[in-house]
Parts: sequence; structure tokens; C-alpha cells
Amino acid sequence: MPSPRLLIVDDQRSNIDVLRDILQDYDRAIALNGEQALKVARSKKPPDLILLDIMMPEMDGYEVCTILKNDPATRDIPIIFVTAKREVADETRGLQLGAVDYITKPFNASIVRHRIGVHLELKRHRDRLEELVKERTQELVEARNIAESRKTAAEDGVRAKNEFLAIISDELRNPLNSIIGFSSFLGEPDLPQTEREQYLEIINGASSSLLGLINEMIELAKVEAREVQLQPEPFDLVKLLQGVVKEFSPQAEKKGLTMTLELPEGLPEMLTGDAKRLQQVLRHLLKNAVGFTNHGSISLAVERQSQTEIEERIHFMVRDTGIGIPLEKQEIIFQEFTQLELAFRRSHGGLGLGLTICKRFVPLMGGTLWVESAENKGSTFHFTAVFQKEAVGS
Ligand SMILES: Nc1ncnc2c1ncn2[C@@H]1O[C@H](COP(=O)(O)OP(=O)(O)OP(=O)(O)O)[C@@H](O)[C@H]1O
Ligand SMILES: [Mg+2]
Repeated sequence: MPSPRLLIVDDQRSNIDVLRDILQDYDRAIALNGEQALKVARSKKPPDLILLDIMMPEMDGYEVCTILKNDPATRDIPIIFVTAKREVADETRGLQLGAVDYITKPFNASIVRHRIGVHLELKRHRDRLEELVKERTQELVEARNIAESRKTAAEDGVRAKNEFLAIISDELRNPLNSIIGFSSFLGEPDLPQTEREQYLEIINGASSSLLGLINEMIELAKVEAREVQLQPEPFDLVKLLQGVVKEFSPQAEKKGLTMTLELPEGLPEMLTGDAKRLQQVLRHLLKNAVGFTNHGSISLAVERQSQTEIEERIHFMVRDTGIGIPLEKQEIIFQEFTQLELAFRRSHGGLGLGLTICKRFVPLMGGTLWVESAENKGSTFHFTAVFQKEAVGS
């Protein structure tokens, strides 16, 4: 630890020399008048204690003391008045101004050293105490911030659940109303055949959207309850990819979008893994890509990321040239019931569960899911998954 720094202020050189001799154990700065004293006290290396003469021309010790005590930067430096004055009134005045002690000349070297030692010790304790208070305050502020953000997160959760209930009751009610309404028309004896077929088609559509919705909810509930178990089976990767692309081609075509599948050379034909889950993730991503793109193209691309003798890690990419996702929203889209564009929601439908389901499934397949996107340029959803290689001849 560096030795404490003292500032000796006196207009008489001889007095300064005496004090400097007595206080050889300390790092000592000197000032020959009030101005200089203030300068040193406010410098980058302020003293730990000031020995201040009272009788000085121009600015006396009382004035210097008053200025130092009124300045927050120097207020805490202990000041000891050093003077030949012996009057009680002078001593009182000095202490009232905020000095910690009062030493009279001529000095007794060991008493001066002792007193200075005591005041420096006191200052050290006070500084340490202040530091502790600061640390403690900081801890309290941090604890309060954490508590506040937890509260906000909890409130957000409640809000999301309420919004979910509102959305879900609509999503359930609409197809159910169609099914109930149109099936009652079917009972009318003289309903023309064309209308009967039309109603049946409506009932069919509503039933399958209801089933899709219920399935999604069950899936999510299962992942949340950690009940999902992968069901590995041998499957043909290329066929699976061609299948999902074909499934979305009519929708893409209707919107005037081109849809491509990019396959690299040497892709293994047969792999073992949970093909249904893989298909589900790809469907969710392709459904989004088509839904959130109005011009341009959608592509599904894969590459072999790495392999061992028994495993194959594949990187899947679903690219679109759609509306994109602002950077600050790229995290939250993976949370349940998050939908960014209300206008899009109306035309695209959905509940904001697709990406949540994907985000939960992909790690089960040994991979990760992430997005790269630029607003109005498009998005690429990436994910990786690990599959077992089919043993030759099995
Ligand atoms: N390819 C994309 N381009 C732009 N925005 C996207 C894209 N994919 C997802 N998003 C944004 O993320 C939100 C959440 O997507 P998610 O798939 O979870 O829900 P959804 O598609 O709205 O509904 P669901 O998938 O349940 O039918 C979307 O509503 C949309 O705002
Ligand atoms: Mg979706």
C-alpha cells in the first residue's frame, strides 16, 4: 500500500521544514499559500490529510478550510489546523469550520505524529465504510432491477396468455361454427347437389384446420411437459425434402413465388432419425416462408455439415425474399404466441406457435435453430440435426 500523502500548508518555509522532518514516513506535498493549497487539494493526486496554517497573507487558513469543505471533491479530506494561536476561541472556530484537530506550535514531534496517525486511520476506516455502503447500494440496485425485470416478464407472460386465450377462442370458434352451421344445412331435404358438395368442402376444410390447431397445441404441451420422445426410423432424406417442397408448391405458385430445392452432391440416401419431426419443422418453416413472402422466391437447401462413421450432421436452410424480421425482434419470434405483423396475421392465420415448436424440437434432434434476416429483404431460417447412418445391408 502506498504511504499516505500529506499536504503541509504554511507561508513560513522554516515551519514547513520542521514538519517535513517530523513526518518523514509520509509522502509530503507543500504549499506556501492558500491558492497553492487549493490547487494541490483539487489535483489528480489529492492528499489524504492537510496540515493547514491559520495565519497567512491574502487567504488565511480559515478561508482555505471553508472553500475545501464546501467543495464535494475535497470535502472529505481531513484538515488539521497548525498555529501559534493559543486562544480557545480560535480553536473552536477551526473545529466549527470542519477541521478534525488543532495543533499548536512549537510542536512536540511525537504528539504531532501520533495525532496525524490517528486521523489517517480514521479516514481509512471511513473510506472503507463508504466503499462498503457503495457496494451494498449497488447490490441493492441490482437486486431491485432483477426483481423489476422479473415482474415485467411475469406481466408479459400473463398478457401473452390472455392474448392467447382471445386468439385461441376465435380460432376454435370459427371452424366449429362452420362445421355446426353447414352440417345443419346438409339435413335440408331439397338442397341442390352442388351446394351440398360446397358445404361438405367447407366442413372438411374447417375440420382439418381444427385438427391442425389441436395437434399443434398438443405437441407444444407435450414438449413443455418434456414428454416428447424421438421415434427414429430409416428414411429417405431426398424423398422427404422433395415431398415437403411439393406440398407447398401450389401455395407458392398461387402467390407467384418460385420454389426450389437445392441438393448437394453426395447426400446420403438413407438415414435413421425421427422423420416425422424433421418434416414438421420443415413444414413450419416453409409455411412461414410462403406466408411472409409476396414477391421472389423460396428455397430449401441442405448441406452435409459433418460426419462420423455412424452419424451425419445436416444443415438445413429455408430462404425467402419476404418481409424479413427486424434485428431486435429476431429473438422473440421463437417465443410462443409471438406474431409481429397483425396485418399479416389476418391473412396468414396461425397462432404464433410454429417457431416455438421448431425451437423445442430441433435440440431434441441434436441441433440448433437460428435465423438471419434483413427487413424487406428476406429471411433464412437455419437448423442442424443429427441422424444415424443406415448400416450398409441393413
Ligand atoms: N419467414 C419469415 N419472414 C418474416 N417473418 C417471419 C417469418 N417466419 C416467422 N416470422 C415472424 O415470426 C412470427 C412467429 O412465427 P410462428 O411460425 O411462430 O407463428 P405464425 O406463423 O404466426 O403462426 P403458426 O406458425 O402458429 O401458424 C410470425 O408471426 C412472423 O411475425
Ligand atoms: Mg408459422
